[in-house]
Amino acid sequence: MSEAWWKEAVIYQIYPSSFQDSNGDGWGDLKGIISKLDYLKELGIDIIWVSPIYKSPQKDMGYDIADYKAIDPIYGTIADVDTLIAELKKRGMKLMMDLVVNHTSDEHAWFHESRSSLTSPKRDWYIWKKPRRDDAGNPLPPNNWSQILGEANSAWTYDEKTDQYFLSLFTPEQPDLNWENPDVRAAVHDVMNFWLQRGVCGYRMDVINLISKDQRFPDAEPVLGPGYKYHPGSKYYVNGPRMHEYLQEIKQKVLQKHGAITVGEMPGISNIEEIIRIVGSKNGELNMIFIFDVVDLDNAPGKTRMTLHNWSVKNLAAIITKWQRAMLEYDGWNSVFIENHDNPRSVSRYCDDSDAYREHGAKLLALMQTTLNGTLFIYQGEELGMRNMPKSWDITEEYKDIESINFWKKSKALYANDPKRLAEERKVLEAKARDHARTPMQWDASANAGFCKEGVVPWMRANDDYPAINAKKQIAVNDPEELSTWQFWQRGLANRKEHADVFVYGDYVAMEIASDEIFAYLRTGKKGGKWLVVLNISGKDVKWAIPGEVKVQEWMAGNYLKGKPNKALSGSVVLKPWEGILGKCKD
Ligand code: GLC
Ligand code: CA
Repeated sequence: MSEAWWKEAVIYQIYPSSFQDSNGDGWGDLKGIISKLDYLKELGIDIIWVSPIYKSPQKDMGYDIADYKAIDPIYGTIADVDTLIAELKKRGMKLMMDLVVNHTSDEHAWFHESRSSLTSPKRDWYIWKKPRRDDAGNPLPPNNWSQILGEANSAWTYDEKTDQYFLSLFTPEQPDLNWENPDVRAAVHDVMNFWLQRGVCGYRMDVINLISKDQRFPDAEPVLGPGYKYHPGSKYYVNGPRMHEYLQEIKQKVLQKHGAITVGEMPGISNIEEIIRIVGSKNGELNMIFIFDVVDLDNAPGKTRMTLHNWSVKNLAAIITKWQRAMLEYDGWNSVFIENHDNPRSVSRYCDDSDAYREHGAKLLALMQTTLNGTLFIYQGEELGMRNMPKSWDITEEYKDIESINFWKKSKALYANDPKRLAEERKVLEAKARDHARTPMQWDASANAGFCKEGVVPWMRANDDYPAINAKKQIAVNDPEELSTWQFWQRGLANRKEHADVFVYGDYVAMEIASDEIFAYLRTGKKGGKWLVVLNISGKDVKWAIPGEVKVQEWMAGNYLKGKPNKALSGSVVLKPWEGILGKCKD
């Protein structure tokens, strides 16, 4: 496995609206980010990826871009971006931008032109289709695809002026670009060059496997069940027919010239051969992608993400093992992540976020992630073990995300007379809403968690738990017995860097993937060094037999004590609830 700086880098995702407000308007901004770079450096971060800060009507929090070459005034100016890049550079860090080019905002000049008439030179920059008609001649969408962020709605939006529909997979305000048109691709290349020339190191590429659509636009199978008119058409646009061609073109025309790095967001695929075509070291198109298998674990099979499903430790262990092994065997590259702005908080999701066990759970997940091969991504607040919003919060008041709003509207319409069913739908929001990751970053115990000044109303309410869970408190911990979650991450990142040969590039062999509680694996470096990771992903005391061939010399770290865990070196170990341990073994 070849070595590269970006493979060892730790990337921290910033959700700019919720990170740090510098000017008292209740929105995070670029100056706020700049003020926190020392904090990130100290944690052990190399690259920051900032979610979209371009000019946008914010219908989908900046993932609806109205101008790719301008910064939204709520975040600052292009000069602030230059300052950010310079300040990062001073600290040996880099900036990764979010590239959202499957669609634009409906307020982008390209779309204004496109919708202005049937003969507009930019008509073909988006995906326009003639309506189907009902018996009375009323227009109907060209097919039955559902909207991704509003499954009760059609993915097509009607334009009265020209009597046609345009494709808008996410929301009506996010029209899909027509990548079949070479001018569109050239315009995307131009945008990419623009920011690379300004000094960004690369891109996180938003839903980049959705850019090529099956040009027949066939109807989707009806999978959503009674009450639903529209259904996911994913089969016809996920890793579509020309995707590889478009990605190769980007690689040749843009990425190679700048030595830019990329991570592609790719929902809906888990086929090894297909993924190796993208991230294989030989002819791969991108450096790495986000594979959704882990974050899809708790979705009802075949349904959308706004569903619940019991997942098991076995499934989690099998999925992680599959991708760790695949990249080793086929010479590809992983990204390691379990949180981002589209998912609930990991400690609430995979562990137990009660006061009794939250810290242990958050550290357990840190131990797991810092000991897996791949480029590691941390989402803001994950280093503090931030948790989901309180269940008591009012949905209409506190949930701001368009997906949640659409979901709740649909649920109330479908289950108006079925309070039991509606209560189940509420549980989905409480567990899965994207809002959980978007509450303000918890800096300290002052008003609004230190995200914005006292008296200012933040765009989203700070989680009630911020007096207890915040960065200032966790950094200050000086406890001979136990590290804070932040300190645990900091130590874990340092250890990962020191032993990159083992934890970033090393061999991976699963030691336990058949248990309902324990997930264990062995990591071996090329230059020597053998480490055993044992994770108890359950709230029980669990006894686990160390495999005979593994000779543990010393338990080096764990999430219960600051010092070395006091456990048996052979035979069986007993792990406490949510306990994880890291052992150094004989080569
Ligand atoms: C990606 C983004 C998500 C956004 C969607 C549409 O999945 O991460 O936040 O809503 O794409 O751009
Ligand atoms: Ca602000």
